[in-house]
Amino acid sequence: MTETRHSDALVVGAGIAGLMAALKLVPAKVTVLAKTRLGKGAATDWAQGGIAAAIGKDDSPGLHAIDTQRAGAGINDATIVEILTRDAPARIEELLALGAAFDRTDAGELALGREAAHQRRRIVKAGGDATGHEILKTLIEAVRAHPSIEIVENVTADDAILESGRVCGVRAHDNADGRAIDFLAGAVVFATGGIGRLYRYTTNPVQATGDGIAMAARAGAVLADMEFVQFHPTALSIGRDPMPLVTEAVRGEGAILVNDLGERFMLAAHPDAELAPRDVVARAIFEQQQRGRSVGLDARAAIGERFPHEFPTVFRFCMEAGIDPRLENIPVSPAAHYHMGGIAVDEWGRTSLPGLWACGETSATGVHGANRLASNSLLEALVYGLRVAKDIQSFAIAAPGGSVAFAGEPASSQAQAGESQATADLRNVMYANVGLVRHEQGLREALRRIAELEAEFPRAANELRNLLVVGKLITEAALARRESRGSHYRTDYPQPDEALAKRSFTRLRSVA
Ligand code: SIN
Repeated sequence: MTETRHSDALVVGAGIAGLMAALKLVPAKVTVLAKTRLGKGAATDWAQGGIAAAIGKDDSPGLHAIDTQRAGAGINDATIVEILTRDAPARIEELLALGAAFDRTDAGELALGREAAHQRRRIVKAGGDATGHEILKTLIEAVRAHPSIEIVENVTADDAILESGRVCGVRAHDNADGRAIDFLAGAVVFATGGIGRLYRYTTNPVQATGDGIAMAARAGAVLADMEFVQFHPTALSIGRDPMPLVTEAVRGEGAILVNDLGERFMLAAHPDAELAPRDVVARAIFEQQQRGRSVGLDARAAIGERFPHEFPTVFRFCMEAGIDPRLENIPVSPAAHYHMGGIAVDEWGRTSLPGLWACGETSATGVHGANRLASNSLLEALVYGLRVAKDIQSFAIAAPGGSVAFAGEPASSQAQAGESQATADLRNVMYANVGLVRHEQGLREALRRIAELEAEFPRAANELRNLLVVGKLITEAALARRESRGSHYRTDYPQPDEALAKRSFTRLRSVA
């Protein structure tokens, strides 16, 4: 007999978006599902850069909105951009009130950092380059202080549960013993994070397997902007998987990119050189690599002796690998970092399925367009964690009473032999064919390989099963967009096409 647990609201995911939603849902009885121990496994914990907010004297939400839309290459949802940039300062105030220790100047003001494609200093940060960790710690303390929030750790959600077409929970399994548990609730929020694990090179934790997107897709939800995957230009290239990040703020402070011939190639690639939009910098590095060159980030002149103090996390990663950034170049390479696409939601985080809301990276609000502006992701998670909670509170939420059904065949709780090799194959295929540079032949090859793996592993366990769904949706969307825009670059359609300057929406084809 499967154990069943009930709450008013169920939040799947325990990163910044999920915890913010949970916090704002009280006094409702809230259950939060964490795939690992709380505080581990969420990309939030690894976020270095910070939170963008127009709080500087020379700044305004309007300027922040302009930068967000420029980076997004013309297809951002302007209403959502306005909400995001308008609400940013209030969300920072709220974190401060909860006790977040953001970096300050000697005069006691918030110390604002600079990142690529921002025309002002507006990055609020903590511990130099440990912003996500500080925010997560703050939210965990706040959530733990609320008796009406229950955190269930080390459980993985497998599928949505539906009652008369309404999402009313998830079937999950306990990671330790595989035992199935049904979590039922009057409102369900997916805040499961990103999809980086789909790619051979990524800055995301191994838990970023697109669970929310895959579960929502199997339940019939509308997905949006799936083709847009952001590659961070500077992941630390020292053979680790996932790859540690070298925050963009290092370039914001003046570090330059050079190839192994000592050439500063970004000067020729874009007028803003190293501070060009992320997709431009990432592709320029990739192009160097395709020509057989390796790339390093030279922070010696710009940062030098200040490095350990200003970027302690990056400094530690470098020193662990025997690289001293005060004295030598940091080896870098692009890596999958953030998915602009996801479960389509409206301005309150409502999905197309009654009973289901989504926030954070797993959702697609449309705010990022074709390419996210640096440090807008933690911000979106805060803004939408709150909006989702407010929207849910406006409904009378009642736990389900009747008979329920599962979306999709149950996942196998144990990976079969061969699944880890299949996952490695899929990750290689995605990086090679659905990565920074795409074309029709490569995209078709990826779809062929995905179909083969689906046939070979019809009852794969959670990780491979979800990665195959998300990989297929991203590849199909990339094939359908016959132009280049933001993070989506096709050599067979290298220019943007104004007739295609709009968001994309899709559903999983196998859903009836
Ligand atoms: C970084 O620190 O470069 C990452 C920030 C972000 O992804 O917005």
